[in-house]
Amino acid sequence: MNTAILFTTKHGTAAKCAGIIRDKAEEKIEVVNLMETQDFSVEPFDKVILGSSVYVGKIQPEMTVFCKKNKQELLTKELGLFICSGDHGEAGRGYLKLFGEELHKHAVSKKLFGDEIYWGKLNFMEKLAMRIIKKT
Ligand SMILES: Cc1cc2nc3c(=O)[nH]c(=O)nc-3n(C[C@H](O)[C@H](O)[C@H](O)COP(=O)(O)O)c2cc1C
Repeated sequence: MNTAILFTTKHGTAAKCAGIIRDKAEEKIEVVNLMETQDFSVEPFDKVILGSSVYVGKIQPEMTVFCKKNKQELLTKELGLFICSGDHGEAGRGYLKLFGEELHKHAVSKKLFGDEIYWGKLNFMEKLAMRIIKKT
């Protein structure tokens, strides 16, 4: 079965997760960064995995746009979703709906992959937001 993983990321966690899935899989998997290309067709693939990270309650707009544009095609695929977020509880599970209610309902696998924080890459406001989220 043909599989594609499409991800969006700001600082690299979701990209790392996509790479880990690809490296662990026994079949060949195509990995695509939607921040770099929006012109990707999922048509040839049987399975599609969508992964994004969350900033201030939202996934990257590139993923939102892609999901809206390709919704009908994605609904014909075996679909997996993953989220990288600081919240691993109720709010985290809610973020999985940010791909769209229909895609969320259709997906056979929905996972929270946790988070990484690259403090060196964050600006002052981002560090402040992160400290509030992490309550540290
Ligand atoms: C400024 C900022 C805002 C964030 N907002 C949220 C949030 O609203 N909810 C959450 O659960 N995690 C939040 N996080 C945590 C990120 O989702 C987490 O660090 C994730 O691993 C980042 O993934 P990326 O490197 O693929 O972009 C935030 C992180 C930063 C730096």
